[in-house]
Amino acid sequence: MKYFTTTSAASRRASSCIIVGIYERGKLGKAALDIDKASKGFIRNHIKSGDLNGQLGRTFLLTSIDGVKAQRILVVGLGKVSSFGISQFRQATSAAINILKSSKVANLVNYLTLEEVEGINPYYLSRYSIQTVGDMLYRFNKMKSDRQNKSIILKRIGLALRTKSDASKVMLGAKHADAIIAGMNLAKDLGNLPPNICTPSYLARTAQRLTRENKNIQTHVMSEAAMKRLGMHSLLSVTAGTVLPAKLIVMKYKNAPKQDPVVLVGKGVTFDAGGISLKPGHGMDEMKFDMCGAAAVIGTMAVIAKLKLPINVNVVVPTCENLPSGTATRPGDIIKSMSGKTIEILNTDAEGRLILCDAITYSKRFKPAALIDVATLTGACVIALGHHRTAVMSNSDTLANSIIDAGITADDRGWHMPIADEYERQLKSNFADFANIGGREGGAITAACFLSKFTTGIEWAHLDIAGTAWHSGKKKGSTARPVPMLTEFLLKHAGVLP
Ligand code: BES
Ligand code: MN
Ligand code: ZN
Repeated sequence: MKYFTTTSAASRRASSCIIVGIYERGKLGKAALDIDKASKGFIRNHIKSGDLNGQLGRTFLLTSIDGVKAQRILVVGLGKVSSFGISQFRQATSAAINILKSSKVANLVNYLTLEEVEGINPYYLSRYSIQTVGDMLYRFNKMKSDRQNKSIILKRIGLALRTKSDASKVMLGAKHADAIIAGMNLAKDLGNLPPNICTPSYLARTAQRLTRENKNIQTHVMSEAAMKRLGMHSLLSVTAGTVLPAKLIVMKYKNAPKQDPVVLVGKGVTFDAGGISLKPGHGMDEMKFDMCGAAAVIGTMAVIAKLKLPINVNVVVPTCENLPSGTATRPGDIIKSMSGKTIEILNTDAEGRLILCDAITYSKRFKPAALIDVATLTGACVIALGHHRTAVMSNSDTLANSIIDAGITADDRGWHMPIADEYERQLKSNFADFANIGGREGGAITAACFLSKFTTGIEWAHLDIAGTAWHSGKKKGSTARPVPMLTEFLLKHAGVLP
């Protein structure tokens, strides 16, 4: 995709398509107003006759208007002026792109970037525009035999400028969006690939490929033997039932001298059958998405490497399968984690925390400035927050708040949930230091409490993405969340946002 900026008025811009907006109650957006003037009231007349209205996401394709140079004018409803925010901006943009997806339009100019969106500067309008387009154009057809790839025709996207001096910010937004989309596409592909292909070794090879493509990344893949030497028996207990080898992937991105790294840890269970505590069969295929935390942190690594951000970031991915078999871990087994703490495994389906705790203990050697783990950890999180918000739990309110703020800015939102002693007590065990489950009540929080036992001395946050990492049903597929949230956090950390 190619991007460019333009300061020409909508009516004077020669293009195969321009996108302009109208609000409810007949208020025209900036570009619509210009077109209406140039065409002696064409748009207002259509509003009067009831053919056009400003309902959010409604689209109308007009062609060859006298006095307007563009061949097609795609009018999109922006909703109420008073409630026009980022989310509405993105909805309107995606509605417009939805129409153009199957059209022959190869280049377009988005004039919605002229609108005033409260608290949002031109950099973000540009970035949201391109990100929305990229998100919508994603296709997963790697596994189809008939790939005749109805390839997307859209090649060039123009962004309208309020003033010429915004040009560099707008192009920076496009550049960032382009990298974010590449990272999201990688994360989506990893999530969508079937579990017989996207195995722990496949994730390791993906990390090694990124290393070859980026001078600033170094990758080390640890074998089960190496993990055994380090005492990672909690991680190893999860992989006991499968024949596929588990891996611990360690990626280091270094592009700042003398700075402690941000460490991102991603849950990489490439298939979660539950182990001996076997899951019910219905919908079990979706447990191929149980590596979406890993996909998100690797995808985020791809973004920052592409943008060459001046920071240090390590990615740590514990990855394995959770299957039942004669060699699988039993409910009741007690194992010793790398930290030395013993764990009574009362439910083998609570496996994510078992691989994460050893990965977190291992990561302490990097002296992280902050450690953020990302995991499809609990069904309880989906019950608590549904599919719209990622749960954020932390031992530092400052860190939690900056992650949540990043989520708001990136329109990839999180919600703060507590960690507290009352919940932590639910993990008591009669036989070991503690158990790996804490009962049904507050399940997302007790899972975080379990992890918190391994995070003393570090600034740590846990993102439970069980509800946000993928769509079920007709739209079944990975969302690549929370790549936008994590990237925003790191862009801020790098100090490169305008
Ligand atoms: N990967 C699952 C969590 C999950 C379930 C995510 C459904 C998204 C949709 C995790 O490993 C798991 O099985 N958790 C158990 C924990 C329980 C046994 C304490 C769960 O949520 O049921
Ligand atoms: Mn499980
Ligand atoms: Zn799981």
